[in-house]
Amino acid sequence: QILDATGLHILPGAIDVHVHFRDPGYPQKEDFASGTAAAAFGGVTTVFDMPNTLPTINNAEALADKHKIASAKAYVDYGLYAVLGEDSIEHVDALIDGGVIGFKLYMGNTFGRIPSPTTGAMLEAFEVVSPTGKRISLHAETNSIMERREARLRASGRIEPIAHLAARPAVVAVEAVARAAILAEWTGARIHVLHISSAAELQPLAEAKARGVDITGETCPQYLLLDETDYDKFRGVVRVNPPVREKANQQPLWNALMDGTVDMIATDHAPHAPDEKTRPDIWTVDCGFPGVETQMPLMLTEINKGRATINDYVRWSAESPAKIWGLYPRKGTLTVGSDADIVIVDLKREWTVDDAMIQSRAKISPWHGRKASALPIHTIVRGRFVMKNRILQEKARGTGQSVHAIQQMPPAMPANTDSTMAAITSVQKA
Ligand code: DOR
Ligand code: ZN
Ligand code: ZN
Repeated sequence: QILDATGLHILPGAIDVHVHFRDPGYPQKEDFASGTAAAAFGGVTTVFDMPNTLPTINNAEALADKHKIASAKAYVDYGLYAVLGEDSIEHVDALIDGGVIGFKLYMGNTFGRIPSPTTGAMLEAFEVVSPTGKRISLHAETNSIMERREARLRASGRIEPIAHLAARPAVVAVEAVARAAILAEWTGARIHVLHISSAAELQPLAEAKARGVDITGETCPQYLLLDETDYDKFRGVVRVNPPVREKANQQPLWNALMDGTVDMIATDHAPHAPDEKTRPDIWTVDCGFPGVETQMPLMLTEINKGRATINDYVRWSAESPAKIWGLYPRKGTLTVGSDADIVIVDLKREWTVDDAMIQSRAKISPWHGRKASALPIHTIVRGRFVMKNRILQEKARGTGQSVHAIQQMPPAMPANTDSTMAAITSVQKA
């Protein structure tokens, strides 16, 4: 196949390590076909799907069912997460045998009401997963530490106004990142901090990295590009956990990407149907919005403005995730050969995001109306077109593969900060 790419740029396909494709369970929001089609249009060739589906992916049977669904519908490659919680610690080995890409631990509230483990259960879970080398991705928000404060505000009639969400204390995230880092240090577990939204979280993250903890982090376009003024414009549509915060957080997050404190960009693509995002009572809307399709065009628009280089972008979108999850160099680089994951982008295309035009089934997002200056034109997964000239290649449906089979995670470092802990770990191993 000869393709004229004159004037276009060829980049490694993006790897989005944080999407919610809602399949099985919530077809009105998304399914694996619509979600991976959205990825294909967004230049994303690999996605890691979150386990807060229905049923929750916390045992081998549920995982096997999701593998069947995904392999039948996927346009792009994927990894599947499983929940690491009090009821799934005993299933860790079976889940790994069943082909997980990693584990997801919910330290705070989320869609799908997944219970948060106690600190003791977290420590145990980290100990169990550590020797396997699998990375544990954290929704790092200890919402429970705000319960008394929020109850007091409610009782006194001081209901927080919507714009106040942006200023909701980031302490819930700071506490969670710091606590998780301590447990990772004690157990040698590898951890990844999802959706870093505030400047305040960067300190415990950077400190843990400096101590040698195997901790990585992602931020998302919503925290780099949106701010408190978007609540007036978009009301419940912009609600997401963690919340979009005040503008002063943006530049520190950009700086952290530049200096490597934050390793990558993911989207937390969290589609909900329009009626679920526009309920009159803003406190009852479902949190999250689609993003897998707009990440690359919006971030490359910032690159076009000179905010960072295209090499920086490739590191954040493809290379780092591939290296951190053991997929490099099969993924995350421009391999020459027949199995490359490639996106061919036009870096001079002016267009405006229109919710009606997005592939995701959830056609409602705070990206609506945003101007972009870059657009993926062709997306190629393992040498095969999945999106060509902005047209989805229907015959690519079901050709996406789980990437767990190519994952090479060396065993994690043994715990090294406390001799008692090290002894416990080695007894367990013996
Ligand atoms: O806003 C969010 N939406 N945050 C989460 O943690 C979960 C996600 C979802 O699944 O809707
Ligand atoms: Zn989350
Ligand atoms: Zn999420």
